[in-house]
Amino acid sequence: MANLLIKNCLMADGQSSDILIKNGIIKDISKNISATDTPKIDANHHFVTPPFVDSHFHMDATLSYGLPRVNESGTLLEGIALWGELKPKLTVDAIKDRARRFCKWAIARGTLAIRSHVDVSGDNLLGVEALIDIREEMKEFIDIQLVAFPQDGLLRANCLENLVSALDMGVDVVGGIPHFERTMADGAESIKILCEIAEKRGLLVDLHCDETDDPISRHVETLAYETLRLGLNGRVAGSHLTSMHSFDNYYFTKLISLLVEADLHIIANPLINITIQGRQDAYPKRRGLTRIPEQINAGLKVAFGHDCVMDPWYPLGSHDMLEVAHMALHCCHLTGVEQMRSCYESVTTKAAEILHLEKYGIYPGAKGDLVILQCKDPIEALRLKPARLFVIRKGKIISSTPPVEYKLFMGEKIEKEDLLFKNSS
Ligand code: FE2
Repeated sequence: MANLLIKNCLMADGQSSDILIKNGIIKDISKNISATDTPKIDANHHFVTPPFVDSHFHMDATLSYGLPRVNESGTLLEGIALWGELKPKLTVDAIKDRARRFCKWAIARGTLAIRSHVDVSGDNLLGVEALIDIREEMKEFIDIQLVAFPQDGLLRANCLENLVSALDMGVDVVGGIPHFERTMADGAESIKILCEIAEKRGLLVDLHCDETDDPISRHVETLAYETLRLGLNGRVAGSHLTSMHSFDNYYFTKLISLLVEADLHIIANPLINITIQGRQDAYPKRRGLTRIPEQINAGLKVAFGHDCVMDPWYPLGSHDMLEVAHMALHCCHLTGVEQMRSCYESVTTKAAEILHLEKYGIYPGAKGDLVILQCKDPIEALRLKPARLFVIRKGKIISSTPPVEYKLFMGEKIEKEDLLFKNSS
């Protein structure tokens, strides 16, 4: 819990302010704050934002790319098969080493909260053990929320007992994968079982749901129905929801009002689903993302997750949440000004609301978690994916990156240009 005065912050409304953090909490936001006894930095009129929040990730698999081999087809199913080949070789220490390294990448890019699914299928809970340790080890620097995820199917792999054990061990959220169960009926049954567990234990729900191009994969409807039946409104998220891209339009107009009634949260994973979906299509190939603009217009909370970084499903990624939002913006035609702002919120404030993070944001009384970006506003952040000049956790600087400066050798003088920035200063 540290004290810090940040001078000359450019806030989201375009105004300049100073921010004073005392004992890890934002104490004051106003002009010309002086606090002589407090360490001070200068934001130099750069944009100050709440930290990025990744609402969907798999930390047990991250940075395992190439182990034991790469996914040549690029499909979801080969990825799942590959993960099945790797799992028997995993150790708690190896998972922790990769997860620890990954957390450092995320923090350096300004992400200070991650919801990670952890596989509970198979004959052990090594991933759960490892990530519970990492959650504790890293809590000074980053908030990690864990989801008990039956990757091979709750009923198909008979892993209900493991899922319950994982929750008993302290995993935070109930997960599932209804579209991977053997039948639509089993998928629906798995949703009922999982939502009832969450209701009894007072937990949040986040299911991988309809991550397929099948236009009649409609588990999201059951998920919303069970949410309403059990009074879980606002506590349930559907992740991926890619089959919605291919739903019949008439059915979608009926469905969306049910999603609103249940206050179902949406978590899209644009980097992964733009590469995984549409693999069996001839041209034209579907983009495979859920119907994000329509969901936003209906007033649903929509967040974006990174999902994977260098693992059996995705060979790339550096865990930059601005890349995630940038991809969603392009794939879903979200180029209007308010739409672009909304994309930024999907990797910050809306994601924080879906994770039920407390005291998140920039206001007196909020946690002193902030990121100073080398840009002027959220839209410029999306355009440039700029340097994270300072990453601040509870008033303490935990990462810094020097400002990017371009030198041109084109005439007699060396010119220094903020080539990329619209308001050079
Ligand atoms: Fe996922």
